[in-house]
Amino acid sequence: MNIVKKVGVFGSLFAFGLFAMVTPEAKTAFFEDAKEVNAAVSKMVGKSPDAKAIAELAKKHSLDELMHVFKFRNKGGLGVGETAGAITPDGIEAKLQGLQKKEADKADLAKNGKAYATIGEVSLILAEISEAHTPKDKKGEKDPKKWKEFVEKMRMGSKDLITASNKSDAKGLKKAAKELNDSCIECHGIFRD
Ligand code: HEC
Repeated sequence: MNIVKKVGVFGSLFAFGLFAMVTPEAKTAFFEDAKEVNAAVSKMVGKSPDAKAIAELAKKHSLDELMHVFKFRNKGGLGVGETAGAITPDGIEAKLQGLQKKEADKADLAKNGKAYATIGEVSLILAEISEAHTPKDKKGEKDPKKWKEFVEKMRMGSKDLITASNKSDAKGLKKAAKELNDSCIECHGIFRD
């Protein structure tokens, strides 16, 4: 084995050792943070935005940790509905993408309308949290003015989603889900590295 190969092998072993040592702890920490964020956001659902609680949450956590609520429940996100796995996909981001593509049928709306309204509630809270995370300075395309526009779109989409879900308005729900989902995609397109 020549020296380059040896270094390569030991290097990989060393890197793997570090990976094995660091990753579980980092993962646990992230999961704990996600749990804390989920609990705090859940507590706010259905109430008018509590500016103080939102400011505290926004200050304590990175946007990355906060936006994690939108992930699949089994990846540490909030999920959709009260019971794990009862509604699929069991993640807000994924569910929104489905809702904007295909109009929900009557039975689905009757059964899951409340869970869909909660998607709007959670997104509304996240819009307020995102507002608190508005970047201070303009960097190239990343203009705080744009950020605020996306936050406003997220807020409007969330409100429309709540209204449509509560009225069992299938057309309105599809439209609101698109509006909301567009806000996610447009903001990520510019601000998410
Ligand atoms: C105003 C801008 C903005 C809006 C609107 C927005 N996001 Fe984000 N989102 C971000 C940024 C910026 C990040 C990356 C944060 C980082 O890595 O520090 C992010 C990260 C994420 C992540 C990754 C979290 C993780 O676990 O790493 C998810 C999931 C996500 N957003 C979902 C959504 C969904 C769903 C919506 C709409 C309902 C949405 N976002 C709306 C700016 C936004």
